[in-house]
Amino acid sequence: MTAEEAASIINNNYNVGFSGFTHAGCPKVVPGFIAKRAEEEHAKGNPFKINVFTGASTGDKLDGMLTRANAINFRAPYQTNNDMRSAINKGDIKFCDLHLSTMAQDIRYGFYGDIDVAVIEACDVTEDGEIVPTCGVGISPTVARLAKTVIVELNRWNPKEMRGMHDIQEPQDPTNRQDMPVYNVKDRVGMDCIKVDPSKIIVVETNEPNEGGGFAPVDEVTAQIGKNVAKFFVEEMAAGRMPKTFLPVQSGVGNIANAVLAAMGDSKDIPDFEVYTEVIQDAVIGLMESGRVKFASGCSLTVSNPCIEHIYKNLDFFKERVVLRPSEYSNNPEIVRRLGVIAINTAIEADIYGNINSTHVMGTKMMNGIGGSGDFTRSAYLSIFVTPSVAKGGKISSIVPLVAHEDHSEHSVKIIISEYGVADLRGKCPEDRAQEIINKCAHPDYRPLLQEYIKNAPQGHTKFDMYNAFAFHKAFAETGDMHNVKWEKKA
Ligand code: COA
Repeated sequence: MTAEEAASIINNNYNVGFSGFTHAGCPKVVPGFIAKRAEEEHAKGNPFKINVFTGASTGDKLDGMLTRANAINFRAPYQTNNDMRSAINKGDIKFCDLHLSTMAQDIRYGFYGDIDVAVIEACDVTEDGEIVPTCGVGISPTVARLAKTVIVELNRWNPKEMRGMHDIQEPQDPTNRQDMPVYNVKDRVGMDCIKVDPSKIIVVETNEPNEGGGFAPVDEVTAQIGKNVAKFFVEEMAAGRMPKTFLPVQSGVGNIANAVLAAMGDSKDIPDFEVYTEVIQDAVIGLMESGRVKFASGCSLTVSNPCIEHIYKNLDFFKERVVLRPSEYSNNPEIVRRLGVIAINTAIEADIYGNINSTHVMGTKMMNGIGGSGDFTRSAYLSIFVTPSVAKGGKISSIVPLVAHEDHSEHSVKIIISEYGVADLRGKCPEDRAQEIINKCAHPDYRPLLQEYIKNAPQGHTKFDMYNAFAFHKAFAETGDMHNVKWEKKA
């Protein structure tokens, strides 16, 4: 079929599952025609909105185009698109922010109703229903199996020789769930493709490049955070708290995560290591070629276009060193805890006790979502959060008395690292955690204000002052600068 014909089978209020994870592996043509259809229906005065389920965020040709056409009613579990972000924050899209490892199983459990149509980007599809994904897997195996119709975008831009890079499996649901037998980063437990009933497949041929942008150049602050992470690991190994052979690393999304991995690769004292992560970003590919990263298991190759083109030109090399799994395997807490994964994720803000906000700016505006950070943080051997000490030119302190939204609690967070240093929260009571975080991670400008907050807070196991816990956020809302804190007097 043409993409337009395929899109025409999608009706108002349909539950549609899309392939891919980040921009990697997402369909790039059919969503545009769904958006066109929505605009045409809206022009006729008819309702047309769909519910969008994916592995994570997607490219602009999916989330962006559908948002601009006002074609989305409900969206889960993660997004990074500017237009979608503002539609969510205006209340125009109902967004459900979920741990990514649970999306596929929640669909199987029936929490969202039936999947009407799945749209899956593939590098190959066979007569007997074998679909080979491209560079992101996400929830594709589940939505393809459950959907009444599967539209395959056979995207010729991706070589069909990718086959062999994927490890596709769905776990059984309770009460039949067995262990997920990934005992080493390299273990494969499934097939090299998704297999569905061929009679429900529609094929649309395309030839569309990926939508992978680059990463921000490493600045002084990010570089210093990376160096602090690397130094911390070297000290942990010297102290015997980490095996000399090192442990598999998970590293989060975005610029800072990319820079941290690059710094780890540069450190001569960190041995060559493996990666058990969600998104494989550019830095991992570079480190793989220099031999520093021995193997990477992930859910997607979320890399820039020059990087993916390079991978495609050297597929034999990378197929021996990369495996792409569905998100419920790449992010599975059972596997993460078994392998002893070191989780490194980025915080928007942290509070003085170690609670982390990864998602909501000033407690209200959704940035991206929790993504896989919770999947890894709670189960990791060591859960680390990195953050620059300040944001927006110093007007926002990333260390605050109380986070304005909590994604990861103090019970899961072991280490916080900023450009100033490393706060080690292991084995510390709330008061000692606060001193560690303020003195090692907060920007010096904000340290006296944070100490003043603690000094004025009533005694208790955790010193918490309900009148002033959000004084930093209030100062920013009222004056545009957290330095202008005004303490409220108790009644
Ligand atoms: N208050 C307000 N804005 C803040 C802020 C704060 N405390 N901290 C950061 N920001 C802003 C930055 O100024 C920047 O804004 P801009 O885009 O307008 O320049 C933006 O947030 C991104 O910050 P940046 O420093 O470039 O970091 P990043 O690209 O590494 O992204 C997160 C950081 C937290 C947004 C990102 O890592 C994320 O979405 N994390 C949640 C999901 C996750 O952890 N997934 C892991 C998968 S395994």
